[in-house]
Amino acid sequence: EKGTYPHFMLKEIDEQPFVIRKIIQEYQGDNDDIKLESDIRQAMLDADRVYIIACGTSYHAGLVGKQMIEKLAKIPVEVHVASEFSYNMPLLSEKPLFIFISQSGETADSRAVLVQVKEMGYPALTITNVPGSTLSREADYTLHLHAGPEIAVASTKAYTAQMAVLAILAVDTARAKGYELDFDPMKELAIVANAIEALCDQKDVMEGIAKDYLSTTRNCFFIGRGIDYYVGLEGALKLKEISYIQTEGFPGGELKHGTIALIEEGTPVIALATQENVNYPIRSNVQEVVSRGANACIISMKGLDQTDDTLVVPEVHDLLTPLVSVIPLQLIAYYAALHRDCDVDKPRNLAKSVTVE
Ligand code: F6R
Repeated sequence: EKGTYPHFMLKEIDEQPFVIRKIIQEYQGDNDDIKLESDIRQAMLDADRVYIIACGTSYHAGLVGKQMIEKLAKIPVEVHVASEFSYNMPLLSEKPLFIFISQSGETADSRAVLVQVKEMGYPALTITNVPGSTLSREADYTLHLHAGPEIAVASTKAYTAQMAVLAILAVDTARAKGYELDFDPMKELAIVANAIEALCDQKDVMEGIAKDYLSTTRNCFFIGRGIDYYVGLEGALKLKEISYIQTEGFPGGELKHGTIALIEEGTPVIALATQENVNYPIRSNVQEVVSRGANACIISMKGLDQTDDTLVVPEVHDLLTPLVSVIPLQLIAYYAALHRDCDVDKPRNLAKSVTVE
């Protein structure tokens, strides 16, 4: 039920702080341990490489998951779009572990890969919001997202939940390998939940950004570097699928290799800057587009060197910034679609779970 909300999407955006707190509660063990099936821990320890398989928004969460697992647990990770992987399988390592990320657990493209890798005898873990789903039943292990039913076609709370669970999994593996981490995932996720809440209280600001940048445009670009690039991909997908504005997300450094040709007077460019190591490089990319007439909106994180950014989001741990920086992008997409009289919860041509290949 939507309750007092005009749309499920807005309700689900607002639920994100609760979902993160629910995940903390579900995965918090005794004396600061993480509560996780020991078989899953062992499967991570046994793997010489992790292959993350997913589609759409879940694929974008997988890209962030790669950073988390590689940086914390130091296991190489590849992230693949399911429909590409199944027809064009890359050379696999000797002891792969497959992680399927799927909100619905019913996505046919992902299932096709799961069937293939099970035939090859490889272990598989599904991270899903629906524990009894096909991908959950057919994999060896399941991690539950605890996000509650997601009704709007555009995925929001499942995406942040996926990244929260991936962070917990990465930390658990790192600890099992005996690595000393200065990263308490539950404490850091609690900070994230508060930051999301603060952003959800600023809906008028996001609505203003949607008005200022997107009310008449036909296209919009999202740029970022590293983990911000991955969030840009998600921002671009969210905006295009519900507002029908043509969008593209790409790495800041790639601009000059082609896309910059599309920048004209007034073209909206949304830039993300949450990472210290790329703060200056991404700002110089913004300068490149502004000098060609772009209408640049900079969304940055508190604590970084900045001047006149459009929106500054609260500071959280480096690896968890996507859970926070995506919130304005979800809300901007929502209001842009609303202003265009689009059917926010049920965009044309799309279904909530894609059960055909
Ligand atoms: C976008 C969206 C889709 C899904 C994709 C995978 O908002 O919802 O891109 O993320 O169809 O779905 P699941 O996660 O159910 O496998």
